[in-house]
This record gives sequence, structure tokens and C-alpha cells, in this order.
Amino acid sequence: KAAATAEKPRKNYPGEAKGFVEEMRFVAMKLHTRDVAKEGKKEPDAQPIGKWEPTIEGYLKFLVDSKVVYDTLEDVVQKATYPAYAEFRNTGLERSEKLAKDLEWFRQQGHIIPEPSSPGLSYSKHLQELSEKDPPAFLCHFYNVYFAHTAGGRMIGRKVAEKILDGRELEFYKWEEDLTTLLNRVREKINLVAEGWSREEKNHCLEETEKSFDYSGKLLRLIIS
Ligand code: HEM
Repeated sequence: KAAATAEKPRKNYPGEAKGFVEEMRFVAMKLHTRDVAKEGKKEPDAQPIGKWEPTIEGYLKFLVDSKVVYDTLEDVVQKATYPAYAEFRNTGLERSEKLAKDLEWFRQQGHIIPEPSSPGLSYSKHLQELSEKDPPAFLCHFYNVYFAHTAGGRMIGRKVAEKILDGRELEFYKWEEDLTTLLNRVREKINLVAEGWSREEKNHCLEETEKSFDYSGKLLRLIIS
């Protein structure tokens, strides 16, 4: 048995030794369903992506609303009301222009591009509010939106493309540089910014993860709407 020490042992946070992004990842992975992540929770009612029946109309709604969200994120870091946001300009992960190109392609194919709807608009509003009054919570969304898109988002994109786009890969799923390099650069920057946060601010950031899943889940469901 360990002998009692003079110093009160500090609570450890999973992933803490590797940096704050690893803590964020740990919390996010636990919110996945077991069918996609070994850390995930069992959800008998979860509908696996393989069984989704996407439609072009639904997918267009998803792309339009996603663009609203990326426009907001990319606008916030440009304005940088909170100085540290400036670190996240030109990461190479930006998706707004890519989505604009994809939507233009759909339009040229004769599809009607829908107006943004509630999932994207309400997420955008939430992000704008957080960006001004709650930077740690804002960065939680920033991390989850960009990183989720490179993982599960890409997987979903591939499945949808096979089913309704003849396998065509959209710009939304292409990056100009090696993705692992881009992601690692952003991980380092988030870790650095978070080093300036108190433990309370870090916990507050981690607690926002669920909201990020709620909002993104509503966006994803547009695909099968
Ligand atoms: C990672 C699937 C939704 C956030 C992953 C991974 C998969 C996945 C397969 C990689 C697992 C690994 O590296 O071991 C999915 C599927 C989803 C979904 C199928 C929906 C049907 C979401 C949502 C969010 C999210 C809604 C948050 C808004 C993340 C994050 C990572 C991740 C932050 C870690 C990425 C990294 O470390 O690079 N997801 N995911 N995912 N996902 Fe999801």
C-alpha cells in the first residue's frame, strides 16, 4: 500500500499528461456510440451509418448548414475578439470556401440550393455568443467541429458519396496539405492556449463537449431528412 504523503494528491485527468487536446479527445470519444469507437457507449437504437438512406435534398441541407457553421468559426478567428483566436487563422483546416465550391457544383448540376435552416443557424448563434463571452467553451466547439469532420465526417462523406453521388469526392473532404500535419499543428496551438487556462476553465471547456455533439448531431441528421 502507498504510504500517506505530505502533499495532497491532485486529481488526474485522463489524457492530461499528453496535453489538453488529449483530454478533449478522451471526452469526445466517450460520447461516440460503441459501433464507431471502442471507448463509446452502447446504444442499441443507434442507426449505423451503413444503414443511412441519404437523399441529395437532405445532403444539400447538411452542406448548406455546415457552411453557416464554418463561416461563423472562420469569421470569429479572423476578428479575434479574444486575442488567442488569431492563432487559429489559416490552419489549412478551413472549410467555408470548399463548401462554396461544392454548392456551386451542385447548382451547376441543376439542383436547387436550399436556404440555411435551424440546425446551422442556431449553432452559428451559439458559437457567436460563446466566442465573445466564453473562449474555453468556444474552443471546445472549434476543436470538435474541425476534428470530427476529419474523422467520422470523412467516413460519412464517403458512404454518402457511394450511395448518391456515384462516388464523387467533394472539396469538403479535401485538404491542400497532409492532413495529419495540419491536425498536429492545430493540436499544438490548442495545447499552448490551454496552458494559460486554470483547471476550472479547462473543465468548463471539456463540459461543453456534449453541446458540441448535440449541435453537430442535429446537423448530421439533416443528411437523412
Ligand atoms: C473521432 C466516427 C460524430 C468528434 C472519430 C473516429 C471515428 C468517428 C471513427 C476515429 C476514432 C479513432 O481515432 O479511434 C464518428 C461517427 C459519427 C461521429 C460515425 C456520427 C455518426 C462525431 C461528433 C463529434 C465527433 C458529432 C463532435 C461534434 C470526434 C472527435 C474525434 C472523433 C473530436 C477525434 C479526432 C482526432 O483525434 O483526430 N469519430 N464520429 N464525432 N470524433 Fe467522431
